[in-house]
Amino acid sequence: MTAEAELLQFRKEFPILDRTTYLISNSLGAMPRGVYDTTKEYCDTWASRGVRAWEEQWWMLAREVGDEIGLLMNAAPGTISCHQNVTQCQAIIASCLDFSGKRNKVVYSDMNFPSVMYFWEGQRAYGARVNMVKTDDGITVPLDRMLDAIDEETLIVPMSHVVFRSSYIQDAKAIIDKAHKVGAMVLLDTFQSLGTMPIDVQALNVDFVTGGVLKWLCGGPGTAYLYVRPDLGTKLQPKFTGWTAHENPFAFKIGAIDYCEAPYRFMNGTPNIPALYIARPGLKIIREAGAERIRAKSQRQTAALIRLADEKGWKVNTPRDPAVRGGTVSIEMPNSKEVCAELLKRDVVVDYRPKAGVRMSPHFYTRDEELNTAIDTVEEILSEMKVGPTSWA
Ligand SMILES: Cc1ncc(COP(=O)(O)O)c(C=O)c1O
Repeated sequence: MTAEAELLQFRKEFPILDRTTYLISNSLGAMPRGVYDTTKEYCDTWASRGVRAWEEQWWMLAREVGDEIGLLMNAAPGTISCHQNVTQCQAIIASCLDFSGKRNKVVYSDMNFPSVMYFWEGQRAYGARVNMVKTDDGITVPLDRMLDAIDEETLIVPMSHVVFRSSYIQDAKAIIDKAHKVGAMVLLDTFQSLGTMPIDVQALNVDFVTGGVLKWLCGGPGTAYLYVRPDLGTKLQPKFTGWTAHENPFAFKIGAIDYCEAPYRFMNGTPNIPALYIARPGLKIIREAGAERIRAKSQRQTAALIRLADEKGWKVNTPRDPAVRGGTVSIEMPNSKEVCAELLKRDVVVDYRPKAGVRMSPHFYTRDEELNTAIDTVEEILSEMKVGPTSWA
């Protein structure tokens, strides 16, 4: 059996694939059927063990699931904590920083995910100087401009590995190396990359990594991960903290915190236990599917989608070079927003984003025929709307 045929064997694990053309892992991955079991396991544990569940299982869960995520990025055990979302992970890292000195610059691109921007913009109130690097084409982030912006006054570079709008892959290694050369740190957002391509945090020597499991990792909402490089994990002191980060949380000591070791050091309040249960089946499947195989298939299928869009004369807002293209193809056709709404009604599940168009994301479970179904359905909708193939511009 070929590698791709093996990947298609996983289709039976995802009920929604029987009913829809599911091309939206950039937003919410398909639910593995195993989630029914782990949800029941959660309920059974709560129902039968009550509060004893904390000591027996739940307290350790955030670390265990963190370690499972770590396997996908070559992170050492105990370096990843789990949180509610990526925005909170930004806040945890920001709370370790001091913006009062000369080194208070925060460098990122205008192609970053907006929630992350809103958060860092908010840090101006605490002394952060935000330097936003602009895109020229709305697809890529100019590497030279990013590297030039990172200087001796830069404290942190919160960057998307893969840009959500265009699926452009930023050169994380070059940016991390430059940041380290001038004494700055990098917080890499791998929300749109982990699960689509191999990532090695140790080879990258990255300071921090964050992302969520609900998209490409098929892990559902409510679990985000935060990797902290081990040497930083012993030093940093998050001010956004709480009792789960205490060395002895059940002593309920009053006053300032005594930090425990990572990963709990970077946590704060009660973890989101049901979300951790539902994250596990997807993580297991992604591990079994394997990043190399997923990436090879993704490069081939995204190329096929671009070819099909080109044939129709639609605009592709995604890099054509497979080396810098992530798992999504953003396609702008006439009335993209309305077309997207109509696609959903016809069970072609995709989304629309301003300045991107309709985002289509084949994953390891996608059949080639589904790419044709998606494009043919767009064509059908456009012909019903009586929009000519070139009238959109
Ligand atoms: C690159 C990237 N970062 C962050 C987020 C979301 O952040 P949060 O987990 O805070 O909702 C998304 C998408 O939802 C994203 O695509």
